[in-house]
Amino acid sequence: MNNRVERIIKRLEELAAISDDKECLSRFFGTKAHNDAKDLLIAWMKEAGLEVFCDSIGNVRGICKSNAQNAKHFVIGSHYDTVFNAGKFDGPLGIIIGIEIAHRLIAENTVLPFHLNIVSFSDEEGSRFNTAYLGSSVLAGNFDENWLSRKDDNNVTLTEAIETYFGKVDTIFEGKIPEEEWLGYYEVHIEQGPVLCEENLPICLVSSIASQIRAELTWKGISAHAGTSPMNLRYDALCAASEFILEVEKIGKAHPDKLVATVGKLNVLSNTSNVVPELVCHSLDIRSADANFLVEVLEGLQSKAREISEKRNIGLNWKIMQTNPVVVCDNHLKKLLRKSIKKVGINNPIEIPSGAGHDAVMISKVAPISMLFVRCKDGVSHNPEEHASSEDIEVSLKVSDQFLDELIKYNK
Ligand code: GLV
Ligand code: MN
Ligand code: MN
Repeated sequence: MNNRVERIIKRLEELAAISDDKECLSRFFGTKAHNDAKDLLIAWMKEAGLEVFCDSIGNVRGICKSNAQNAKHFVIGSHYDTVFNAGKFDGPLGIIIGIEIAHRLIAENTVLPFHLNIVSFSDEEGSRFNTAYLGSSVLAGNFDENWLSRKDDNNVTLTEAIETYFGKVDTIFEGKIPEEEWLGYYEVHIEQGPVLCEENLPICLVSSIASQIRAELTWKGISAHAGTSPMNLRYDALCAASEFILEVEKIGKAHPDKLVATVGKLNVLSNTSNVVPELVCHSLDIRSADANFLVEVLEGLQSKAREISEKRNIGLNWKIMQTNPVVVCDNHLKKLLRKSIKKVGINNPIEIPSGAGHDAVMISKVAPISMLFVRCKDGVSHNPEEHASSEDIEVSLKVSDQFLDELIKYNK
């Protein structure tokens, strides 16, 4: 293993040791661990020779400025928040490789035709506020101020979370790169799926990112005594939600090539064994490569939920949290990336769509995007078993170094 790959792996381990939970890796937006990770990222960026700027959403941005007149910004990034019980690679790999790329270019006194930015985005998973891409939406200048009043499970608002560690919300847009100043975006990420394992390839290009809808449903019944309330006189919010959740699974299974549908978060009130549940609030996450089909699925699920709510006499409230269209990677950047992959000896690079969401989704609204996937063991992700080998990381670093060289040459 060469020194740079060794450093990447050491840093992945160091970052993974920063967790809010002693038993597993968990680093939600705006927590102590999240802030500690931010400090470490600042130190690594400074060590690489980058000028570091932190914005009020918690993004850490390391810049190596170009002397060229009217130079634009090229950004390499990924995220440093995690899901609960996470793996070490989802997010941090892309940041740490970015720092490594910048480190080399700075050490070699490379003349840059664009401002090189390495960005650690503060929130991609949306685990705490059920909204993905808080960090990248600020950099892209499309942060939705309505999100500020969202609350986490402990009734803390997003505004309070931001202001505890990062900055004042009224300066939030100071963190953006204006649309006309963007040159492009590149992100290295583990695949989080099985294709590269099946194809026996270390890396590949990403063609597009699936459309995604996130929603929150609240079912309102009547709290009652579990021992004395007859079964036919209950208004059980959890039973209504359960019936709906099975419908979500059913529609996903009916379209195995077109749709994935998940309820991953559920809160029950009063969450007590001897009380009939009064209130259930749960997430809904549906994704497809076909955005129109996804809207049809959403409408179908909305009507199913209405039916269940009427049949059981249980109140229902739907909130659409986020709708993201299909995002396509830029042809020109893909061409340079394909050339770079071939230069490191992979002659027939493949291109695959991403079912997972990435910060590139938000950035695509203002700039051309490109992504490189790295094989992860058995396609496992959002799981502590998540793993990418040092050999594959080395390939992704070589490709990324080459890609930046091609990009610099092209823009000179
Ligand atoms: C992030 O990992 C997502 O796809 O939700
Ligand atoms: Mn990710
Ligand atoms: Mn993730």
